[in-house]
Amino acid sequence: MSLPNRTPAQQDLQIFLPDEARATRFAQICADHLGAGDTVLLSGPVGAGKSHFARAVIRAHLGEETEVPSPSFTLVQCYDAAFEIWHADLYRLSHSFELAELGLEEAMGTALCLIEWPDRLPQTPQRAISISLAMAGEGRMAHLSGASPALAGALQSAFSS
Ligand SMILES: Nc1ncnc2c1ncn2[C@@H]1O[C@H](COP(=O)(O)OP(=O)(O)OP(=O)(O)O)[C@@H](O)[C@H]1O
Ligand SMILES: [Mg+2]
Repeated sequence: MSLPNRTPAQQDLQIFLPDEARATRFAQICADHLGAGDTVLLSGPVGAGKSHFARAVIRAHLGEETEVPSPSFTLVQCYDAAFEIWHADLYRLSHSFELAELGLEEAMGTALCLIEWPDRLPQTPQRAISISLAMAGEGRMAHLSGASPALAGALQSAFSS
């Protein structure tokens, strides 16, 4: 498995998200810095908040009323914002040929792709932002790598207390 391409300018961050509201704020700030061609790999155990993150990013681009169903059975859901947004949940992916049928690999690089359970991908995508969520008491700890300096700066100023 290859590691994502990284440049020295890309930054690693760890941010504590004590509740859903702060997790939503975290995702909204990320959304401001995400666009066409970006891929976000969302990892962490069941219930860690991966879908919560994706839902908040999609709503930041399409409006708070946007329905964001879980793609756990369809594997992907697509949204038309100013650019395409693909929300994938690969937990139930059984064969990598399904990925070709879904068109997800083609979409990476043109759409904004938010991918839950990215360890199911046959190869780690190049130049992705990785967000790993872990249970931390009632809240979650987010580890983010591959963020642009602008995103890292925005998160640091929003979450430093
Ligand atoms: N920082 C947080 N603090 C407390 N609760 C949170 C936080 N982030 C998310 N949650 C809540 O955790 C629950 C599970 O979140 P979510 O469905 O997004 O998990 P998931 O990682 O997508 O799980 P799965 O692996 O089953 O897809 C939701 O009720 C969500 O609102
Ligand atoms: Mg989920």
